[in-house]
Amino acid sequence: MAADQDAPTGPDLTQGIAIDAVSDGGSLTGQADGEAVLLVRQGSEWFAIGATCTHYGGPLGEGLIVGDTVRCPWHHACFSLRTGLSLRPPALKSSSCWTVEQRDGKVFVTGKAPSPPVRSGSAGKPGQPASVIVVGGGAAGDNAIATLRLEGYAGPITVVDPDDAAPYDRPNCSKDYLAGNAPEEWLPLRPAEFDRDRGIERLAGRRVTDLAPRDRRITLDDGTTREYGALLLATGATPVRLPQGVVGGDAKVHYLRTLADSRAIIAAAKDARRAVVLGASFIGLEVAASLRARDLEVHVVAPDKRPLERVMGAELGDFIRRLHQEHGVTFHLEQQAREIGGGAVTLANGERLSADLVVAGIGVRPNVELAEAAGLALERGVLVDERLQTSAPGIYAAGDIARWPDPHTGERIRVEHWVVAQRQGQTAARNILGLDQRFDQVPFFWSQHYDVPINYVGHAEQWDVIEVDGDINARDCTLRFRKGGRTLAVATIYRDRESLETELAMELAAG
Ligand SMILES: Cc1cc2nc3c(=O)[nH]c(=O)nc-3n(C[C@H](O)[C@H](O)[C@H](O)COP(=O)(O)OP(=O)(O)OC[C@H]3O[C@@H](n4cnc5c(N)ncnc54)[C@H](O)[C@@H]3O)c2cc1C
Ligand code: FES
Repeated sequence: MAADQDAPTGPDLTQGIAIDAVSDGGSLTGQADGEAVLLVRQGSEWFAIGATCTHYGGPLGEGLIVGDTVRCPWHHACFSLRTGLSLRPPALKSSSCWTVEQRDGKVFVTGKAPSPPVRSGSAGKPGQPASVIVVGGGAAGDNAIATLRLEGYAGPITVVDPDDAAPYDRPNCSKDYLAGNAPEEWLPLRPAEFDRDRGIERLAGRRVTDLAPRDRRITLDDGTTREYGALLLATGATPVRLPQGVVGGDAKVHYLRTLADSRAIIAAAKDARRAVVLGASFIGLEVAASLRARDLEVHVVAPDKRPLERVMGAELGDFIRRLHQEHGVTFHLEQQAREIGGGAVTLANGERLSADLVVAGIGVRPNVELAEAAGLALERGVLVDERLQTSAPGIYAAGDIARWPDPHTGERIRVEHWVVAQRQGQTAARNILGLDQRFDQVPFFWSQHYDVPINYVGHAEQWDVIEVDGDINARDCTLRFRKGGRTLAVATIYRDRESLETELAMELAAG
């Protein structure tokens, strides 16, 4: 999905439009000084912000207005209409904010409002931790750092991450970047001056090897130690490896978690003709689609009867399979690799698939080793309360490792979603500062297969029935995953408003 760089259309809002051209609660997309601007009317108040989402360029005019905010139709970012500030990821940059004036029965957009100043560190406030260490600078860690400063924390912040490219747009590593449709310059999440301007200390290329909660101390991989006032664990997950014995000595199997992994697959794809992808998960299928975009012959091998059936159900699974087949992918379902080597993948049924490139996307495991060794409570992940605090005072956990009490399902859940990790990073940061905020956001993820985006809100590990509204094959549908008379999750294709409305309804239902 590329950023929308089209020239803005619609009325020139600097010339003014009639007040009654926009109804109360309504909006209009026009332009001002060559930029697309969204004008919103709420009672007697008028707001104007940039109309193009700062994430991937989604049209905010097609989004959902909720109070004095607007939510993006594509991946549910949320912006303040008063300031343009990005309130909810995945958008990280604020939108432009414009001043509005009313006169002579007309409303005019008169110019850009100044951006709020960036805060950097000096000394902490009473009651706040003396320092914060963030372990892992990916989706959750990065948003925690940004939120700490945005909320006015002025104490020292240190982030540690062995991946010296972090933070970057990890979801893109299996999509447009891997397909060759997005340049690497699009991947960094923050400008180069981000850390300097905010007084952030980044220990890039370094790993935390030990955590001592009683002494409030971490040890780094060079043996040095650091003390912290509060700590966020945001160590993410690691791809599951194939069992020993399957991969022969001469064989190379690629896994995909990092930008470096994605670069390695791109390099290997340059000289490859045939690829075998193991696993029909989101990652496996996105890799398959990206390698097709690079004109490789692609075979997908998976033990499942249908791709994505466990998450999306049979009907959507069948659709996804057909969609990939239409793009030239060959499936070997209810199969797995018995042996990889000699330029081929041999399946359990003896079939031999020649392969110049093998990529395995067979799941991930949360990186809980530090938490486990430190004696934190675990339950298939790091157990946290509704404020994302672990069993140890002053230690919070967020993202792929965290299992939290989800008010929407009434269960403790752990998910591997980009947006959830980012938003948990924000909430954990606020709780580190004593702002006492529940993490009650509705889980959301998206997945892109060729030109078909699937948006999913809520969380359903099991269901009694999936109600399908619309036509899956026509790519215009809503699937409701229902259990015990309740809708636990909703997946949509090209029904973005409905996805947003469902998210809001679930939020309101949970109070
Ligand atoms: C290729 C790919 C595509 C994806 N696409 C989507 C998508 O389309 N939609 C979606 O919802 N989700 C997607 N995901 C999942 C999403 O990226 C994750 O859910 C999200 O990144 C989790 O955030 P996190 O902060 O928990 O972990 P991460 O973003 O993985 O960050 C964890 C960081 O911790 C660091 N770390 C680990 N151990 C240590 C240590 N001991 N000391 C210091 N640092 C450490 C790691 O180097 C890493 O940078 C995708 C994932 C991948 C790999
Ligand atoms: S384009 Fe707006 S959230 Fe992604």
